[in-house]
Amino acid sequence: MSQPAHHTVHVNLGSRSYDVLVGDGVLQNLGQQMVTRGLPQRVAVFTNKEVGAKHLKPVMKSLAAAGLKAVAFEMPATEKAGKSMKAAEKACRDMVKAGFDRKTTVVALGGGVIGDAAGFVAAIYQRGVPFVQLPTTVLSMVDSSVGGKTGVNLIPEAKNIIGAFHQPRLVIADSKTLRTLPKREWNSGFAEIIKHAAIRDAKMFEEIEKVAKRKGDLAALIARNVAIKASVVEADEHETSGLRALLNFGHTIGHGIEAAAGYGKLLHGEAISLGLVAAARLSVRNSGLEAAGAERIRDMLARFDLPVRLPKWLRTAEIVKHLMHDKKFDAGKIRFVLLRDLGDAFVSQQITLDQIKEEIEELRR
Ligand SMILES: NC(=O)c1ccc[n+]([C@@H]2O[C@H](COP(=O)([O-])OP(=O)(O)OC[C@H]3O[C@@H](n4cnc5c(N)ncnc54)[C@H](O)[C@@H]3O)[C@@H](O)[C@H]2O)c1
Ligand SMILES: [Zn+2]
Repeated sequence: MSQPAHHTVHVNLGSRSYDVLVGDGVLQNLGQQMVTRGLPQRVAVFTNKEVGAKHLKPVMKSLAAAGLKAVAFEMPATEKAGKSMKAAEKACRDMVKAGFDRKTTVVALGGGVIGDAAGFVAAIYQRGVPFVQLPTTVLSMVDSSVGGKTGVNLIPEAKNIIGAFHQPRLVIADSKTLRTLPKREWNSGFAEIIKHAAIRDAKMFEEIEKVAKRKGDLAALIARNVAIKASVVEADEHETSGLRALLNFGHTIGHGIEAAAGYGKLLHGEAISLGLVAAARLSVRNSGLEAAGAERIRDMLARFDLPVRLPKWLRTAEIVKHLMHDKKFDAGKIRFVLLRDLGDAFVSQQITLDQIKEEIEELRR
């Protein structure tokens, strides 16, 4: 059978290097790609009910056709139940019961929740087994499936507080799976794409615009975003040099908003959209970004129906409380990602809490 054409993005991490394959229908290559890469032939596939109902069949078919022995398991779909120690423990028990030993490949089919949770299971099962990501949301394709951060939450203490760096051995992002993604999830994922354009690739705004008009090449756009994420991860795999922090553009205020709203009220990308608008405006005031640059970011977010104005019910004090909870202020100042220009981000040490409060107020206008 001929294979659908795809883009390949190589993530260069020495002995932990891997490829990300992006294309329409590329999931049908899964089994054969795993065999080519010499991955263990016994496969534990984790998905949730929703995604499984829509996309599991072709995955199992491709694995079987390549001679791989796969068993599918379900994990809970929600952030709360899915990304939990309880779900990870249950997954490990399921694998023991089904007789999986060290020579196992764990495959995650789904969005970031499944990817993070099943990735964590892969990191801890028998002290670590090979892992393959099959992201099915925009966010998980351009962000969470690449970079090796896996983990679960401790609710109510903190999100993503338990985890491990465990790079996948292969990522296959099939843009065809996005056709079943709810509109709100689709839009939310574009907040991260717009973030990538803002920090690294100003020209990409034109491609995003085309996709917004349903005229663009979606797989090419996803591959371009994966390449950006990959280049940042390659330069700072374990988040030690500070470069990986550039990916947090829009996330300081965005996370404050996400937490203040109560997790689940706003989707991640919706909260980040507001954080991006605020961070762009702070860049105009502090680091030379032209007002037109900030407008470009805001207009593009609005094109995907993402919020660009703070809802009245979200109180500034509440947002600031949550923001202080996960960020350190040193002598009243905080590390904050700003833009000098579209496509040119840096970490500033100069932003004060007062400036952040003003900018949150400004988000209401
Ligand atoms: N590891 C990382 O580096 C990293 C980076 C960013 C975000 N994350 C994590 O990612 C998670 C969010 O991921 P997400 O935005 O993909 O959300 P998600 O995994 O919750 O998926 C969103 C919803 O869409 C459904 N869905 C997924 N694919 C579908 C499809 N093709 N068709 C129909 N429905 C589909 C899911 O069942 C779910 O209900 C958060 O937990 C966040 O912390 C991790
Ligand atoms: Zn994000």
